[in-house]
Amino acid sequence: MDRDSLKKAVGLAAIKFIQADSIIGIGTGSTVDHFINALDFIKYKIKGVVSSSEQTTNKLKKFGIKILNLNEVKILPIYIDSADEIDHQMCMIKGGGAALTKEKIIASAAKQFICIADISKRVNILGKFPLPIEIIDISRSLVTEEIERIGGTVRYRKGVITENGNIILDVYNLSIKQPEVLEQHINSIPGVVTVGLFAARKADLLLISNPSSGIETITR
Ligand code: 5RP
Repeated sequence: MDRDSLKKAVGLAAIKFIQADSIIGIGTGSTVDHFINALDFIKYKIKGVVSSSEQTTNKLKKFGIKILNLNEVKILPIYIDSADEIDHQMCMIKGGGAALTKEKIIASAAKQFICIADISKRVNILGKFPLPIEIIDISRSLVTEEIERIGGTVRYRKGVITENGNIILDVYNLSIKQPEVLEQHINSIPGVVTVGLFAARKADLLLISNPSSGIETITR
């Protein structure tokens, strides 16, 4: 089974968690795209979706699925998204697709975060995948200096402006043993909008697809 088939399988598996008449928060990326393809078949069952990006919004609109503004949503029971890495405490690195800020806001507003991922995303220690940080451009040197002081190697993601008008730094060479501490620390650097560490808001449930054992469900 290739990686895209694993993403497709786990996207489909998430459908059984969708309750009738509910509103769903949805992330961004290729795994989520598979989930949306499957959601198309049960779209009449749901009230609408809070979307984390233009990519996701455009796909949902193509299927005629109603987009809702988070500010107008009272209860968001569920948020479905993938990750770039997820550890055994259900902390994640996200932001490979540069949608981390809206993803973190919607995930934090949701009662339950279901992470859908193929087995390649499961790690013992976060940090092999470069950690994305969305920052305000003027803070680039300041943030870089502080991240280098704590041992990271910073690369500016060229040609990317986020939907919020900011830039992304990717941090290499981190071995993240205390994700909550690091998330708090990076968040405290002036100019940082969002760090792609999801530790304060972990996943509650992980659906993981594996070529040998199918879909495994892991709860926190
Ligand atoms: C986007 C994300 C995605 O969840 C992450 O990059 C995984 O993407 P994919 O499903 O394409 O592997 O955080 O900002």
